[in-house]
Amino acid sequence: MNICVFASGTGSNFKAILSSINKKYLKSKVSLLITNNPDCGAVEIAKKNKIDHIAINKNIYPLLSQKEYSQKFLSALKKYDIDFIVLSGYMKMIEPEVLKKFKNKIINIHPALLPSFGGKGMYGMNVHKAVIASGVKISGITVHFVNENYDEGKIIFQKCCEVKSDDDEFTLQKRVLKLEHKYYWKVIKMFEA
Ligand code: GRF
Repeated sequence: MNICVFASGTGSNFKAILSSINKKYLKSKVSLLITNNPDCGAVEIAKKNKIDHIAINKNIYPLLSQKEYSQKFLSALKKYDIDFIVLSGYMKMIEPEVLKKFKNKIINIHPALLPSFGGKGMYGMNVHKAVIASGVKISGITVHFVNENYDEGKIIFQKCCEVKSDDDEFTLQKRVLKLEHKYYWKVIKMFEA
């Protein structure tokens, strides 16, 4: 597959995917990174790995209509001949036109067991704080298809881990991230022909 990664943050999942490609665990390649945040860690990772990156956000393109704005994404995806999109800590909604064009071809990873601890505002440390506050004893990761609502697309894969009684959001995040790095590429592999 010819993958475009969408990311807004550190990019550790992006890095783990690239490493699984370098080790030839995956046949796919990542040709493009799209970000809303040109200063994020994921951009640095793209540069280091000589992967093209494009920043698209409403500050860069304040005057575009919704359709023109979506077109920015679609034309980048077309230019690079992308056939699969992997969200890796991408903080924005995917444009409806992109969802339509890439139906069942966009996946996301969430750092908890959906449908719990998902939805608007449930990102980053907020998720782990909420998990700990709830008192549940297990958390984990969910890989799911992306649709027009945050964290509501069909679940593809889940893996759980323990929430320890002395965990704070940082120790829990560390355990969950380890699972993310271990399993995200394996889910991508399921989509390779
Ligand atoms: C991960 O926890 C992922 O589950 C969530 O955003 C975070 C991204 O982390 N969607 P990173 O940028 O890959 O380090």
